[in-house]
Amino acid sequence: MKFLVFGSMNIDRVYSLDRLPEKGETLSCSNYELHVGGKGLNQAVSLAKAGALAYMAGRVGKDGMFLVDFLKKNGVNTDFIELSDGFSGHAVIEVDGEGQNQMILFPGANREITPDACERVLEHFGSGDLLLMQYETSQVEYMIQRAHKKGMKVALNPSPYVKKLKEIEYSQVDYLILNEFEGMSITGETEAQKIAIKLSKMLDGGAVILTLGADGAIYACENEYFRVPAFETQAVDTTGAGDTFTGFCLYGLMSGIEPEKALITASAASAIAVSRAGAAETIPDKKAVEDFLEKNFDNGFHSVYNHEK
Ligand code: RIB
Repeated sequence: MKFLVFGSMNIDRVYSLDRLPEKGETLSCSNYELHVGGKGLNQAVSLAKAGALAYMAGRVGKDGMFLVDFLKKNGVNTDFIELSDGFSGHAVIEVDGEGQNQMILFPGANREITPDACERVLEHFGSGDLLLMQYETSQVEYMIQRAHKKGMKVALNPSPYVKKLKEIEYSQVDYLILNEFEGMSITGETEAQKIAIKLSKMLDGGAVILTLGADGAIYACENEYFRVPAFETQAVDTTGAGDTFTGFCLYGLMSGIEPEKALITASAASAIAVSRAGAAETIPDKKAVEDFLEKNFDNGFHSVYNHEK
């Protein structure tokens, strides 16, 4: 089974501050770092670290060749990445003392993807493989339709939220992984449970995984509904936490493990990721996640584990 991530690759420019600036305010930052990022790249790395046969497709400029090297070093196949004459995508990320962030995205090469480029990649994948997309690249709707038609499983992380997301053909999505804000914006509901159930009705038998940050995550699929709590952790930088969750969760679900176990494993992986600075570089491998679960699952997490049906 091949996992294809057709998504964004970004250069993350990360500025650390005690607090985020107000409108019109200028603040000096205490630290600046350049990191590897992009929701697509982060999720491809997370899939590979979880154990998946992961492929990354998309576009980068010459300034982004280190992103491709990073993917290769982390076990992701990069044969389907194309080179642009323009700039790579980049993100300006401000992180405050609590590890919370705000971001400006420059899409760059990520928005140069054409239907022809999609077809060049899709011909190497087929029934039983999985396509994972986010919303930082062009041609998302086209790819979903084409992959679904080919019999591939389709996973969508509709992030960042844009109005166009309301127009997606959700019945073609098998796994919808999103946060509360994105869920609220798509459904108009404000309560997590209602958001998850409404979204699951928009899919044709697919599963919704709604992440709630420190409040854990919800799984909703036809008649199955449950919530897992998040592990307590000291947040240093939450950038990429959702991407780490997405990769581990999807690999688990596609490998046929119990959905509950898949979400718990994903939750452990993202707890480790937020305790470190950066995005893709902070994604733990399978062994680190297993060790974390062994240490933390029985003692604390398991005892407070609240299985809501
Ligand atoms: O989800 C985190 C990612 O969002 C960052 O790495 C940044 O590049 C943006 O794509």
